[in-house]
Amino acid sequence: MSSLFDLAGKVALVTGGTKGIGRSIAKGYAMAGAEVVITGRRQDGCDGAAAELNDELDGQTVRGIGCHMGEWDQIDALVERVYGELGRVDVLVNNAAINPAPVTVAECTEAYFDKVYAVNVKGPIRLAGLVAPRMGESGGGSIINVTTMGAYSGGPRVSIYTSSKAALHNLTRAMAAEWAELNVKVNAIAPGPFMSEMMKGSMRFDPEFPARSGQATMMKRVADCDEIIGLALYLASDASSYVTGHDFKIAGGM
Ligand SMILES: NC(=O)c1ccc[n+]([C@@H]2O[C@H](COP(=O)([O-])OP(=O)(O)OC[C@H]3O[C@@H](n4cnc5c(N)ncnc54)[C@H](OP(=O)(O)O)[C@@H]3O)[C@@H](O)[C@H]2O)c1
Repeated sequence: MSSLFDLAGKVALVTGGTKGIGRSIAKGYAMAGAEVVITGRRQDGCDGAAAELNDELDGQTVRGIGCHMGEWDQIDALVERVYGELGRVDVLVNNAAINPAPVTVAECTEAYFDKVYAVNVKGPIRLAGLVAPRMGESGGGSIINVTTMGAYSGGPRVSIYTSSKAALHNLTRAMAAEWAELNVKVNAIAPGPFMSEMMKGSMRFDPEFPARSGQATMMKRVADCDEIIGLALYLASDASSYVTGHDFKIAGGM
């Protein structure tokens, strides 16, 4: 059974792997045997997070590369560097995202909209668009887009963020259809409440948000970030060989 979930010999690229959900995914992939590259906005933050993960993992290698997901030239450079140093990408997780201070639709400025969509939608399009054809040349791969439960429902004051994630759901279907012939599967993970930096940040605007989100689940709690690992590993590995174009909720029954 364990070979179904084995990532030995694979290279995984996890955007936003310096913190929270992405950090846990990176750790899980390294534990399953992959060489892992994590990204974040700043090189020093990536170096620190990679060093911490390498200490925790005792033997596997995680490396960090600074790359702002809203800047296409930085994404191009990231891809060149990863292929230059590691020669392949088998698993790509488009996890990095931002959810800035809440605004209503009427309050939304052009700058706010552009900032959110640049990181949450345009960046994943560019990165997946560069990586998928090269995955195809090396036999295939797995792309995972991290969205949110809010993508299904929308909601007041978070609609720019949730609509960007709804776009990513739609793009997941399109990418899966376009790249199935390359043996590249593309799926989305839609988390409910996880206790990450983003979740802690929400308390600046709404101190009750984590508790209320936990109560909105059947399990009546917020998840630990490591609880993402099982689903992320399933979608990255051969265990999900007939799974593409789908979205998976991981939200305690929310
Ligand atoms: N936590 C939740 O409850 C929850 C719920 C639903 C969906 N999600 C989704 O899960 C994913 C991870 O969220 P999280 O809660 O773990 O967030 P987080 O703790 O805020 O971590 C975000 C990660 O993204 C990176 N990042 C932020 N802006 C970036 C940019 N412009 N370019 C490159 N990297 C950037 C951060 O790295 P640096 O700070 O080092 O730049 C960090 O590694 C996101 O897609 C989020 O929408 C989270």
